[in-house]
Amino acid sequence: MITEKNNVFYLETQNTEYIFAVHPNGTLQNEYWGARIGVCGGFPGKPSGDRGSNDPVEDFYTEEYSAWGGARFKECALKVSFADGNRDLKLHFASFSLNGETLDVVLKDDFYALWVTLHYTVFPQNDVIRRSVTVKNETENSVTVERIASAVLHLPGKRPFHIHNVSGAWSGEQQPFSETLQSGSMIFESRKGSTAHGNSPYFIAEQGCTEFSGDAYFAALEYSGNFKVCASRGADHRTQVLLGINDFDFAYILDPHAALDAPPVFFGFTEQGFSGVSNTVNRFALDHIFPKAFAEKPLPVLYNSWEALEFSVNIENQTALVQNAADMGIELFVMDDGWFGARKNDRAGLGDWFVNREKFPDGLTPLIDCVNRAGMDFGLWVEPEMVNPDSDLYRAHPDWVYHFPNRENRLLRSQLVLNLTLDEVQDYLYDCLSALLRENNIRYIKWDMNRAYSEAGAPNLGDNQKAMWYLHNRALFALLERLRTEFPAVSFEACASGGGRIDYGALHAFDMYWPSDNTEAVDRIRIQNGYSRMYPTKAMRAWVTDIGWNALRVPLDFRFACAMRGALSVGGNIGKWSKEELDTAAQYIALYKSVRDVIQFGDFYRIADLDTDEGLNAVQYVSRDKTRSVAILLTPFTQFHLQKERLLSLRGLDDHKTYRFTWNGETLERTGAFLNHVPLAFETKRTFDSRIVVLEAVEQSS
Ligand code: GLA
Repeated sequence: MITEKNNVFYLETQNTEYIFAVHPNGTLQNEYWGARIGVCGGFPGKPSGDRGSNDPVEDFYTEEYSAWGGARFKECALKVSFADGNRDLKLHFASFSLNGETLDVVLKDDFYALWVTLHYTVFPQNDVIRRSVTVKNETENSVTVERIASAVLHLPGKRPFHIHNVSGAWSGEQQPFSETLQSGSMIFESRKGSTAHGNSPYFIAEQGCTEFSGDAYFAALEYSGNFKVCASRGADHRTQVLLGINDFDFAYILDPHAALDAPPVFFGFTEQGFSGVSNTVNRFALDHIFPKAFAEKPLPVLYNSWEALEFSVNIENQTALVQNAADMGIELFVMDDGWFGARKNDRAGLGDWFVNREKFPDGLTPLIDCVNRAGMDFGLWVEPEMVNPDSDLYRAHPDWVYHFPNRENRLLRSQLVLNLTLDEVQDYLYDCLSALLRENNIRYIKWDMNRAYSEAGAPNLGDNQKAMWYLHNRALFALLERLRTEFPAVSFEACASGGGRIDYGALHAFDMYWPSDNTEAVDRIRIQNGYSRMYPTKAMRAWVTDIGWNALRVPLDFRFACAMRGALSVGGNIGKWSKEELDTAAQYIALYKSVRDVIQFGDFYRIADLDTDEGLNAVQYVSRDKTRSVAILLTPFTQFHLQKERLLSLRGLDDHKTYRFTWNGETLERTGAFLNHVPLAFETKRTFDSRIVVLEAVEQSS
């Protein structure tokens, strides 16, 4: 619900509230963010005066959208240059329009016809608010936008906050960390063109919450390109966080009467600690972000032969895997890299999206028919944004890649980045990909992207070159949108050398992410754990593979239990699996199918942590109606001294329901109240123990 009263705006969700007000001097300032307090008056608060000539009052404001101008020295959201050289922007409240759960607040520069509209949408049931910004140039000259954050968020009070993000790298994505921000700025960003593997475009802020209780504030940017999250704490000792397009090497020339939309940010507050954050974003993503076509459908169990065969795919070795895949219950058979152009390794072929006739003499149809006859759908890998210099495409159009004059392009993985801001590149990609989808019964695309962008010059953009990062991202998603509209039955997975494209911008066009190329089950526990903080379970593909370090391969049961924590898939060389292994796989896949609606759509709790729970890692999923639950326990270490007894508390069950489940080989019935409060005891008998516990509410006879 949104209420305006005396120029104070109250944005209420079921449990939270966000308030800002027009101050007597015309500035728009944030007044409150936290638990719901109702439409209660008492606002606006009164900003005090200057603290002296070095600390003007503007730096003590909590502006809802700050522009660089006047005596403002803290980080600001918007910075522009007018055509006459004026770089001083002075925004004041102009008007607002309120329509149900959406609110637009318009700010205008005091002199120039530059309009800034702040858009808000409230999702009461989800305890989430989404905001975005449009800047419109109604002057007769162009205006250069040098920075445009999507949101400024002010954390309450003056005590420092612990700010959380992830620090990752290829094959070690999503490793959570936090720092206490005492003074200055803390920046999480990407300059690599995509979100990349390092930081993630979000923040969580708290002052001592735990996994299950305490206040936590969070926000995520719905954008998939260069981003910047900047938390800062200055002389006023208040913490503010800006989220938006990275202003590094960014500028956007706004022609007269043109507008620029900054991507949305969604944000929220919870009193339930980190699990409150995870469940809020998990539900919000399911209800409002995932592409509609597959949002309500569970993801199929997929097989992909990349780790088994790498680039050497051909009609024989692919067909040879089909029956084993079908027998174990695979629903989607995917062919990865290597099927097109002159692709024998990563040094050639990217850009030539035509079937390699040496490997597939009769095209893809015989393989797809074989897959379909075995009862599975077929999916294919592509990497459309890239080109190898050793390709027909590059030989024909060497000017289709980003480049600077008088500079040689740096190759990474032997490839270059196509200039997607060129219409002809977009059309070429659309023509190739749509032909593939039209001519073949393909139901899934793994859309990869395997290098950071460098020498990012786009001569076609003239003076607007620094807009290239933003325009590339826009062109990419326009291309995806075009394909999704024409081929609504095809689902798309976002992969970027593993987890280089995990963000909520991508989740508008992709149905799932590939979180990491590291499929080793023990490493994967930490990657999945970090991922689960802020991203939805359903979108997380997880493969069972043959990877093992130092000849140590963890048991298949453990690998399956680990991969069942997301969208279960298989990526091992199933042509070499024994009969026993294939049977085991079939059993786990059948089990997964019987509970995947709970896992993919349920609430989610991290109930035991490797570091704090004696080497036990456990997660639990609970259906929204609380009738079903699944707990998955992994103990990757021996912890010999602890093996006698371990204790595990469950979460999120209905106190008043009774649940039936198997524990230590016995069928038990316990109330939700019991299970939510009394820990269950068990013994781990060996290294790499794993357990999957399914709880079902028992019908109560009245
Ligand atoms: C990237 C992906 C892998 C695989 C290869 C193929 O590394 O992350 O899953 O698809 O490309 O070249």
